[in-house]
Amino acid sequence: MTKYKLIGPITQLISMDGLPLKGALKDEQLTILLNAGILTEGEHIHSIGNYTDLKEVANSLEAEIIELQSEYVCLPGFIDAHTHICFSGSRANDYAMRNSGKTYLEIAKAGGGIWDTVTNTRAASQEELCHGVIKRANYLLKNGITTIEIKSGYGLSIEEELKMLRAIKEANLHLESDLVSTCLAAHMLPKDYDGSRQEYLDEIASKLFPTLKIENLTNRIDAFVEQSAFSKEDIAPYFKKAIEMGFDITVHADQFTAGGSEIAVKVNAVSADHLEASTDTEIKMLAESDVISVALPGASIGLGCDFTPARKILDAGGALAIASDWNPGSAPMGDLLTQACILGTFQKLSNAEVLTGITSRAAAALKLEDRGKLAPRMLADFCLFSTDHFNEILYHQGKLNPAQVWKRGDAVYTE
Ligand code: NIG
Ligand code: FE
Repeated sequence: MTKYKLIGPITQLISMDGLPLKGALKDEQLTILLNAGILTEGEHIHSIGNYTDLKEVANSLEAEIIELQSEYVCLPGFIDAHTHICFSGSRANDYAMRNSGKTYLEIAKAGGGIWDTVTNTRAASQEELCHGVIKRANYLLKNGITTIEIKSGYGLSIEEELKMLRAIKEANLHLESDLVSTCLAAHMLPKDYDGSRQEYLDEIASKLFPTLKIENLTNRIDAFVEQSAFSKEDIAPYFKKAIEMGFDITVHADQFTAGGSEIAVKVNAVSADHLEASTDTEIKMLAESDVISVALPGASIGLGCDFTPARKILDAGGALAIASDWNPGSAPMGDLLTQACILGTFQKLSNAEVLTGITSRAAAALKLEDRGKLAPRMLADFCLFSTDHFNEILYHQGKLNPAQVWKRGDAVYTE
């Protein structure tokens, strides 16, 4: 028998429903339900509305009534649409060297950079990696993140990439949150690969892609399009093969130099992520496409670089999601809410733009249609914050965390 639950009364419920996917948003556009309730039906939302009205429905359905005793603001569960939280080792030394003025090359020569994490991740067992993912995902859950995208990309060989993606798949079975995995075998040309970039990419496409399908490890392919990784020309045939096999595409684009977003638009990628170096040309191109732009303020904070031009992207009519990029190198913080707040202050984003960036628009960046909004038939994933006004959440810049997190109709975290 389906189990119904009514949760309320909730001082303010921000549904994120009925908002456009693209373009600038004003806070006045948000739907705010006062004295609200959420009636759940199993994992999903049956209805939202006035608490007193819903109580009558709940009684007729013999729902369990969970009566809240203080003021709460309710938001959809947050979605971190870009992370690299399957890894081993620390890059604290890179961070210290970078902040002492050492160059990328000097850090790489001293044994740092992505390759350091590849070495450590290869040395870890699948079980150890799985454990690390579980630990980090559970930490994120307490911050209200109920869906997490996780990339491979620290294996960089067929077997090692498979180990990472299998670890993520395994972790998903042990977590309350949902994991969405992505293959980032095209993160860089592995230092120990005996061949050209093209040969490496061909090998990945012909030998790894079929196994990803057979083992149902991911339906998403990512690549780092950058001078230090792969060029647009390198990556075009790789993406073509991926698309022919039915994979969705996402791109690490325009992080240090512009270029990646052009290919993202050309192949109709689901998202183009980073974009710190995007110029007006790329911004216009993205805005005119269906590609979601994903800002990664954690990488700007970690590297001391410019922020993604989020204001310009929204004003040009683009769709903007915000993700943490949590990884041991460029974005070690792993705190989506704090980073989204900081991006908001530096880029002059409305609360509506920041909050959609980590809910409804983040769901679109992962092509997930069943979450990111509070509405009938959506997953009952939501956070309750101990406050009486939603403005308080971003105002506290990551220091006001959820008092309760609900995932698929269950309270999975209580402060
Ligand atoms: O998204 N830009 C490339 N990849 C990661 C960094 C990975 C690393 O430094 O370990 C990123 O920032
Ligand atoms: Fe990344």
